[in-house]
Amino acid sequence: GLYGVVLAGGTGTRLWPLSRAGHPKFLHSLTGTEASLLQATVDRLDLLAPADRIFVVTGVAHAAAVSRQLEAIPDANVLVEPSPRDSCAAIALAAAVIARRDPEAIMGSFASDHLIAEKENFTKVIRTAMEGARQGLLMTLGITPTRPETGYGYLQCGGAIGDSPVLAVEEFKEKPTYDVAEGYVKSGNYLWNAGMFVWRADAFLAELARQQPQLAAGVSRIAQAWETSAREEVLGEVWPTLPRISVDYAVMEGAAAAGRVGTVRGDFGWNDVGDFHTLGEVLTADPSGNVVVGRDVEQKAGVLLRDTEGLVVVPTEGRLVAAMGVRDLVIVDTPDAVLVIPRERAQEVKSLVDELKELG
Ligand code: GDD
Ligand code: MG
Repeated sequence: GLYGVVLAGGTGTRLWPLSRAGHPKFLHSLTGTEASLLQATVDRLDLLAPADRIFVVTGVAHAAAVSRQLEAIPDANVLVEPSPRDSCAAIALAAAVIARRDPEAIMGSFASDHLIAEKENFTKVIRTAMEGARQGLLMTLGITPTRPETGYGYLQCGGAIGDSPVLAVEEFKEKPTYDVAEGYVKSGNYLWNAGMFVWRADAFLAELARQQPQLAAGVSRIAQAWETSAREEVLGEVWPTLPRISVDYAVMEGAAAAGRVGTVRGDFGWNDVGDFHTLGEVLTADPSGNVVVGRDVEQKAGVLLRDTEGLVVVPTEGRLVAAMGVRDLVIVDTPDAVLVIPRERAQEVKSLVDELKELG
């Protein structure tokens, strides 16, 4: 079986003011369904891992909300970080805790903020990735790229390993520049890294020790103390010293260069809903291409649109959004902030948030 690790960190700044520190995007439902992105991520694993083998790594500020949303998951499986140290520390902590419980464990690490349309396909692909993991490979899931996105990692694919659908990965390049990404997409030989990983916990920890010895040693100390009364003390002492780096830069690029990374193509309707433009693309639009986030197409209560085209509208509870004669805008209303920007500049919300932080 699989151990599932769900990362519920990061605040999703490009979705501000909908997603914010106090209420990050994984706690939201973006599609108008009952389940939040986090709940959907956990539900999607139900054919792969029983609830007591699912772990969630999250920050201290969200631990209570996470436990509340995930009733079936034992509280002990919610691993709480004292502060955000990016994805490598989060994954390493889970790997170390799981490896102590089960030295042969295969774990899958999943982002809590992706949409996946086809659960059955997804389940099949993960099972294939587990075969690669059993051979000691650090497995990624590869998505056919559709644009030179600079916010993703790219996998240069080599040949098939054996007669399975597992491909060798010759190079892992995290967040290339636009020109480089354009060349990758044109070449037809690269896949996007979906940001989900499958591997033996011990194989990952060995690679971590090789490339990030300080992180590996720190996490191993924490894991040793995990089931003891010293946990909080060791966590408080060691956690803040861990390098703040993502797993892609910290481990995956180097592991691929060493020939230890594999991939499986994952054509299961994957979407990283990173910004309002992409969000608008994945949700169902009305005949004029307008999308209302968090609502079904049919029930547009709270929104009045006349002669508009291509809008992405996020209304807030108990207030009306009306728009007329405009196109390709993002309009986000929340109780304490309103955002209006052209859709094509959706990526730049991040820099707006950075400026707000500076203003305090
Ligand atoms: N618990 C925890 N703590 N989780 C974290 C932290 C942290 O400090 N930092 C990030 N995460 C989680 C996020 O919640 C997300 O689920 C996942 O780790 C990836 O982090 P992102 O910050 O969203 O990374 P990214 O989108 O820039 O890039 C990654 O995902 C892309 C696909 O969406 C990379 O893996 C890319 O290679 C990939 O293409
Ligand atoms: Mg992301």
